[in-house]
Formats: sequence, C-alpha cells, structure tokens
Amino acid sequence: METLIPIINRLQEVFLTLGAEIIQLPQIVVVGSQSSGKSSVLESLVGRDFLPRGSGIVTRRPLVLQLVNVPPLEERRKQDNGNKCLSFKAEEWGTFLHCKNQIFTDFSEIRKEIAEETDRSTNNKGISPEPIYLKIYSPNVLSLTLVDLPGITKVPVGDQPEDIETQVQEMILSYISNPNSLILCVSPANSDLATSDALKLAREVDPDGRRTLLVVSKLDLMDAGTDALEVLLGRVIPVRLGIIGVVNRSQHDLNTQKSLDDSCKDEQVFLQRHYPSLASRCGSRYLARTLSRLLMHHIRDCLPELKTRVTVLTAQYQSRLNSYGQPVEDHSATLLQIVTKFATDYCNTIEGTARHIQTSELCGGARICY
Ligand code: GDP
Ligand code: NA
Ligand code: MG
Repeated sequence: METLIPIINRLQEVFLTLGAEIIQLPQIVVVGSQSSGKSSVLESLVGRDFLPRGSGIVTRRPLVLQLVNVPPLEERRKQDNGNKCLSFKAEEWGTFLHCKNQIFTDFSEIRKEIAEETDRSTNNKGISPEPIYLKIYSPNVLSLTLVDLPGITKVPVGDQPEDIETQVQEMILSYISNPNSLILCVSPANSDLATSDALKLAREVDPDGRRTLLVVSKLDLMDAGTDALEVLLGRVIPVRLGIIGVVNRSQHDLNTQKSLDDSCKDEQVFLQRHYPSLASRCGSRYLARTLSRLLMHHIRDCLPELKTRVTVLTAQYQSRLNSYGQPVEDHSATLLQIVTKFATDYCNTIEGTARHIQTSELCGGARICY
C-alpha cells in the first residue's frame, strides 16, 4: 500500500484546497466467528503488534481504528508547523478518544489500554456495542479506517446474555451495512466454509458480493491429508472479489513473541511448500496488495466526481471574474488554475499507478505493504 500513500495524500491536499469533503476511503471491517483470526489479520495489515488476540472471546467491543498518515518525523522537524499533533516528536504514536490527552508511543501499551478499556465497560466476557476509538499516526499507513469486531458466537459464556448471537450479529450488521464498508470475512480453513456465518452475514448486506473479500485463515491447522485447494480456488463457494489464504501466528507464536516479520516469512515458506500453484495469490502480503488495489479502484471511481467539482468551481470563478468587467488579477482564479493542474496531474498519477500495479501483478512482483 506504500505506493498509494503519496497519491492519497496529494489527492486529499487537492480536496482540502478545494474546500471539498475529503475523499472517503472505504472502511475495512473484519467479520468472522470467534477466534477465526480477525484481530491477527488486521494486525498483519497494519504491520504492528497492538491488538489483543487469543483463544476465546478477546475482542468484546468494536475497535474503530483510524490510521492517519503523517509525514516522517524528519520532515516534520524541518517544517515545524505549529500543528500540535504534527509537531509531536515520535515517528508513530496512538491516541484513544476516551483518554485524549494521553499519547502512546509503545504499541504494547496500546494493546494493554484496549484490554483495560474493554474491561471497564464490560464484565466477565460480556460484550458491548460501544466502540473504542483508536487513532494511529504514522508515515507508514494509509489514512483509512479499520474496524475490529467481536466474533460471531452461538453459546453464551460467563455473563453473556442468552441472545448473545443476535446481539453480535446486529453489531456486525450495523457496520457492514454501510455501503462504504469493505467486508473482510475471515473463516478458518479447519472449519466448514459452507456454514460460514461471516459469509452469510455479508450476503445479507452485499448480495452481489461487490464489497466482500474472503480470507481463509489457519491453513496450517488443517487435518493431515486435507488441504484448502478447492476452497481457495473458489470451487466450494465463489467470492467475487477473491479468496485469500493466510497463515497467522499461532497461540504458541504469540506466547513466544514471534515477530510479524518472521511470521510473514514463514507464511511464504508454508505456502510455497503446500500450495505452490497458488503461493503468489495467497498470504498476508498479497492480501494487503489486494486491498490496495480495491482502494485504488475506489479512488478511480471517485475521480470523475472530483473532476466535476473542479470544473464547476472553475466556471464559478470565471463568471465572477467576468462580472468584474475588467481584467483583474484574481488570486483565487490563479489558485484554481494551480489546483486544476494539480488535480489533472494526480489523475494522471493515479492512472499511472494503476497501470504500475497491474504490471507488477502480472509479473507477480511482491511489494511490501505498509
Ligand atoms: P479473533 O478472535 O477472530 O480476533 O482471532 P485472534 O486473532 O484473536 O486469534 C485467535 C487465536 O487463533 C489466537 O490464539 C491466534 O494465535 C490463533 N490464530 C489466528 N490465526 C491463525 C493461523 O492462521 N494459524 C494458527 N496456527 N493460529 C492462528
Ligand atoms: Na479470539
Ligand atoms: Mg479479535
């Protein structure tokens, strides 16, 4: 996704200059049964360890994770713009809405705070629809929102209410019915895809599958003698935007603090060994690239609208200029010319990048994302 970062940053500058609404990237929402690997998948997308994970019901409140792209610290130092947020002296940091003034630079502290804040409003495995809002500022992320949700569960445990299943489903539906949500269904390879509750829910709000992607996790945990080939090829259940197999860190890996980098390398080795024909179309990196491509398509779809806005504004300025009756140096018009050129340039950049992405996909070239 790193190629997308500069483009989106520039586009948002254009939008800001135009006083128009900032281009809204789809928010990515993970949906799946409990412990299917949702939090693990999100972490590998962000490339940072910061989410509570584990067996059992760990995610018990929605986590709305807003990634905010900021210039690298060195650049920010040079600019020294009075912006309090940007003048902050760390490369990456996080803040929570519920404790705005506290700045977290240690990602394990972020994880601790999520767990503690979850416990503050829920007790004994209970769930709550009240979201936790976390912002992560970093030069290495796209400005984009990810939503981690509690897993679908059938049988109440602890203080969970009898209707836990309905409650969680309603919570999930409230996020994925937003047409601007990209639905990332996570289903473990060691359970029957045909009964995937995640896909069932996604179908309810996205019957044509225009914004649903399937991630098949736990490829490493399949019974001896079985594999997920048929599933990954879409022969069991076709998913229009794609089916991507991944291997996240196991509980043992988490306990022994295996790094995301090592996990990503081992995942590649595993895929090469067990799914050689599909290895280039599976794995966490490929998932990140696929999301990147989908976001790119979204931006391309938004461009005509951006062009229209620029044209309308140009016309408005032109008629205002004319109404002055004499040629005057209208600074806003000059500005608009700059912006127009700006916008055109970026349209070209985007088209160029889209081509670039297509080419690198054809070559199977891997690009590290985030
Ligand atoms: P969530 O409940 O859906 O958010 O799932 P988590 O990300 O918390 O993961 C649940 C448990 O499954 C954790 O112990 C993870 O280490 C483990 N896990 C997740 N994905 C994989 C995988 O691909 N392979 C293996 N072996 N374990 C996984
Ligand atoms: Na879990
Ligand atoms: Mg979770």
